[in-house]
Amino acid sequence: MTEKERSKLNKTLVLSEREKEALSKKLLHLKSPANLNDVLNKTINQDLMEAIKYLPEGFVDLLFIDPPYNLTEDFNGNAFKQMSISSYTEWLESWFSKLVKVLKPNASIYICGDWQSSTSIHTILEKYFTIRNRITWEREKGRGAKANWKNSSEDIWFATVNDEYTFNIEDVKLKRKVIAPYVDNDGKAKDWNSTDDGNFRLTHPSNIWTDLTVPFWSMPENTDHPTQKPEKLLAKIILASSNAGDFVLDPFLGSGTTSVVAKKLGRNYCGIEKDLEYSCLSEKRLEMAEYDKSIQGYEDGVFFERNSGLVRNKAKNIPQMIQPEKLF
Ligand SMILES: C[S@@+](CC[C@H](N)C(=O)[O-])C[C@H]1O[C@@H](n2cnc3c(N)ncnc32)[C@H](O)[C@@H]1O
Repeated sequence: MTEKERSKLNKTLVLSEREKEALSKKLLHLKSPANLNDVLNKTINQDLMEAIKYLPEGFVDLLFIDPPYNLTEDFNGNAFKQMSISSYTEWLESWFSKLVKVLKPNASIYICGDWQSSTSIHTILEKYFTIRNRITWEREKGRGAKANWKNSSEDIWFATVNDEYTFNIEDVKLKRKVIAPYVDNDGKAKDWNSTDDGNFRLTHPSNIWTDLTVPFWSMPENTDHPTQKPEKLLAKIILASSNAGDFVLDPFLGSGTTSVVAKKLGRNYCGIEKDLEYSCLSEKRLEMAEYDKSIQGYEDGVFFERNSGLVRNKAKNIPQMIQPEKLF
């Protein structure tokens, strides 16, 4: 990531050389079998294929996987090249088969992809787990195509190891504006509440997610990572499929979103990322999460629908440059 000219309103989180040097000391590199305490709340800066050999067994409650999709993408100089569906399936299998051992018997698994990756994901998931759902996220970003439909969606597959698993439906309800405010015979509101901001109802979340945007430059969670997931997306998954104190693993950590949200929500975490810069960025975000536990679009235990007029950002004004000496 090179220094870019940015507008004053641009909140994109950057990493100075000094921070990189200091934060890289916090990263882990596994060379021998690790136990739970070794990897607890750590970022492993290593190729997954190498790290996987040394991970403990049966310690993960929630596995969130956001691998490179079957597309050509540059991750800070490391290119992932689009391949045939069968080759991508083989690539998924090469590490998925080895990750199964880290899961607890009641663990949940989420894996992201686009329509070009989903066939392979389905094939591999059903080989090892019980598939529960496929969430479609309406992701409003990307270029329009001249001779095709613009791609504006992503899939998030949800599976479990067993039939017994955690699902906290009350923690992931969506606060929606009431269009038809019905009242009963006594004039009392039916299933909705009147607030200073309008009339709202808490609704069951479906497998179509239209209430989140990708991080963009005016959001404090934004980094230069090309495929960063929004914190709100991870908050839904972590709240639904884990409990406080559970262990969340992300083997393709990127800019650290999973670990950061896990920390903000009181879960334990570990992330694996082969790029040093992204690993340091994750550590910087984890440091900032010490001071600021807010998650844009999630407030007072409730997810707000997009454009409800209630999406507030309580993010505190964290200094852009954390002094490395204050980190340790
Ligand atoms: C789709 S991105 C994940 C983005 C992440 N969810 C976030 O919010 O920032 C995939 C990440 O996997 C990393 N990666 C690719 N191959 C890897 C490997 N073999 N081992 C570890 N990390 C890898 C890439 O550097 C990239 O940052």
